[in-house]
Amino acid sequence: MIAYLTTEQFLPELLEELKNVRSVHGSLVLTDGPLQHSVWAQNIWLNPEIISFESISQAAKALKGLGKLWVPYTFDNHRRAQLIQELLPKVKPRVVDFLGELPEDNLGAWTLIDKNTLLASSKTNSPFPLGEVQFNEDKKNPPSRAYLKLWELFTVYGIVPKEGQRVVDFGSCPGGWTWVLQQIGCEVVSIDRAPLEPHIAKLPRIHFMKTNAFTVKPEDIGAIDWFFSDIICYPEKLLELVQMWQSSGLCSNFVCTIKFQGKTDFATLKKFQSLENARVQHLHHNKHEVTVWIKTSSP
Ligand SMILES: C[S@@+](CC[C@H](N)C(=O)[O-])C[C@H]1O[C@@H](n2cnc3c(N)ncnc32)[C@H](O)[C@@H]1O
Repeated sequence: MIAYLTTEQFLPELLEELKNVRSVHGSLVLTDGPLQHSVWAQNIWLNPEIISFESISQAAKALKGLGKLWVPYTFDNHRRAQLIQELLPKVKPRVVDFLGELPEDNLGAWTLIDKNTLLASSKTNSPFPLGEVQFNEDKKNPPSRAYLKLWELFTVYGIVPKEGQRVVDFGSCPGGWTWVLQQIGCEVVSIDRAPLEPHIAKLPRIHFMKTNAFTVKPEDIGAIDWFFSDIICYPEKLLELVQMWQSSGLCSNFVCTIKFQGKTDFATLKKFQSLENARVQHLHHNKHEVTVWIKTSSP
């Protein structure tokens, strides 16, 4: 068995992608069989067990016997869950710096599937409680919270351009991503129909172009190391843009957010997933969108 946790908002998406679903508990989906790749799970419970118990102390004892550090997920029986958690060792807040070290050990997670039944997994796929990545945020410099999506990708997934590399940032206004890329030492060609915030626009190594991203040809920009896009557009249109740049041969590394308005466009999502070397993931800091990255060059 494996269990996959998402937020209430993305439960339909998670159910759409998972096979062999055995039961659903709030936003936690329990499946039979081996680990499946999941775009929408925020936290994967790798060795879940179902345990019956009579008393709160018996539940806490059972959890202590299975593992050291536990985080509860509750969708019902909140007070009872709180009383059990109070008997377990405290988990200190896990807040990391941009590009800082991640906590070493992944956490255990548990829930009450009813008043007298635990679903507990001593191993999950994340060192963050229920996969919720927390940063020591920069409240002063970035002009929007969009920068946290790149911070998460760079810090947690290790997908990060090198100092001195040339990158393009499509849909860059007000400048959160451009700021992150500039800060790590990249030369940033920043493109949007709307202007950057003035305090970002005046930073060195940023070349801003006020134009429609879909009219820019790869030859206009030349060779780049990384293509970034946070443009609000239909997924199909973004796919065309990525494929145009791929076939130009002028760029081999891509990071984009695929944004959905209304219903999730599963058909286009599948097309992104089938691109060579593509990985698609709903990051903790993504809204109704997913992040896709394609890394084909080694630097
Ligand atoms: C979510 S915002 C980007 C936020 C940005 N990444 C940041 O970190 O501040 C999306 C941007 O896409 C831009 N956009 C939408 N369609 C565009 C187009 N056809 N060409 C250029 N920019 C476009 C919008 O002007 C908007 O600034």
